[in-house]
Amino acid sequence: MNHQLTVVDHPLIQHKLSLLRRAKTPTAVFRQLLREISMLLAYEVTRDLMLTRRRIETPLMEMDAPCLSGKKLALISILRAGNGLLDGVLELIPSARVGYVGLYRDENTLQAVEYYFKVPAELEDRLVITLDPMLATGNSVVAALTRLKKAGARNIRFMCLLAAPEGVEHLYQAHPDVPVFTAALDARLNELGYILPGLGDAGDRLYGTK
Ligand code: URA
Repeated sequence: MNHQLTVVDHPLIQHKLSLLRRAKTPTAVFRQLLREISMLLAYEVTRDLMLTRRRIETPLMEMDAPCLSGKKLALISILRAGNGLLDGVLELIPSARVGYVGLYRDENTLQAVEYYFKVPAELEDRLVITLDPMLATGNSVVAALTRLKKAGARNIRFMCLLAAPEGVEHLYQAHPDVPVFTAALDARLNELGYILPGLGDAGDRLYGTK
């Protein structure tokens, strides 16, 4: 199992996740809960960001104040469900640069097929946080990370809402250098590649499509 797997078990996240999992939770509430959880997850994903000291003036005196150092982060949303995590993370890190990777899942092979790729410049100098709520088979995220590395990314973290053990293992085999942050590690996948107990199709629940 992935030694770089962090299950963020903060009680607020766990409570919100239980509300979000319910089949009867309406679209607007689902979206809001996902936004709230993504902010809380982002807090943990960014816990060890490097700081530098900068001279500032408070109303009373000068001080060397801690500020984030280095280039702006890059947030990469794996379309379309990744956007459900993106808004909350951007609220916490508003100056982050944003990119999108468009992949669809071939329903027969469950393999990821790329249809869109647009990412910030100088990826190699940024912390890249890749976002997709569901780590199921891992096919999409493995393909997305391979593509991001080809574009120069070297320091990558993956943030999701739910992970299946199969997906975690797949991701670890393909990209052992990428730490994974999730709100829960669920039991397994079903024969259609859905996470159990899961929450259903995250994109459909987020956007009210079916
Ligand atoms: N994608 C989803 O949206 N849900 C799953 O359970 C698996 C993949």
